[in-house]
Amino acid sequence: MKLFLDTADIEEIRTVHRWGVLDGVTTNPTLFGKTKGMTYDEVLQEICGITSGPVSAEVVAEDVEGMLTEGRHFAKLADNIVVKVPMSETGLEAISRLKAEGIRTNCTLVFTANQGLLAAKAGASLLSPFVGRVDDINEEGMTVVRELAEIIRFYEYDSEVLTASVRHPRHITEAALAGSHIATLPFKVFQQMVHHPLTDKGIVQFKRDWEAARAAADERAKASARA
Ligand code: G3P
Repeated sequence: MKLFLDTADIEEIRTVHRWGVLDGVTTNPTLFGKTKGMTYDEVLQEICGITSGPVSAEVVAEDVEGMLTEGRHFAKLADNIVVKVPMSETGLEAISRLKAEGIRTNCTLVFTANQGLLAAKAGASLLSPFVGRVDDINEEGMTVVRELAEIIRFYEYDSEVLTASVRHPRHITEAALAGSHIATLPFKVFQQMVHHPLTDKGIVQFKRDWEAARAAADERAKASARA
């Protein structure tokens, strides 16, 4: 399973890249809004310089021609850019036309398996069901991931399911078990995946025991030197 970072924060991307577990990055206008001092293009180029995996750049135009203009512009910034297009009637048309031009797309704001199926048929490389936002309205977000992953495999579409709107580490385990090809997660969830209270406690305990053993060995060495 591939893991993407859902952020536009360069330091977070550098950190997870150093861990050796970063397969790509997804950004959106909200995440870009949290960065300071750089244009969206500059942020995207910097990210593409860190990871060679897919980097999603989201269009904001609502009409097809506007989406195409923004998409073509993003695609020229780096080879690994994937154009993020929202699920809509115009979005589907833009996805299909970008596909014809050889530009990869990520269909975002997917909330039903039917929306994902349409995006796959239009030629989107990535399909992004938003699990957390569905959970937020008291429904089961992971159901969409499970259904969509099954449909994609059954009909052997080229698209990959990218679980998005991840809120906690359990979402990642569930997405993996549901057959999601990819999940994109905030930096905090990456950290939560690393840590476990018993792991952290165990590291402290091993260090303490090692130091005690070393001190005892030093004492024994000194005693035998004196003898
Ligand atoms: O990449 C978009 C998606 O992950 C949004 O997440 O937390 O705003 O629902 P969230």
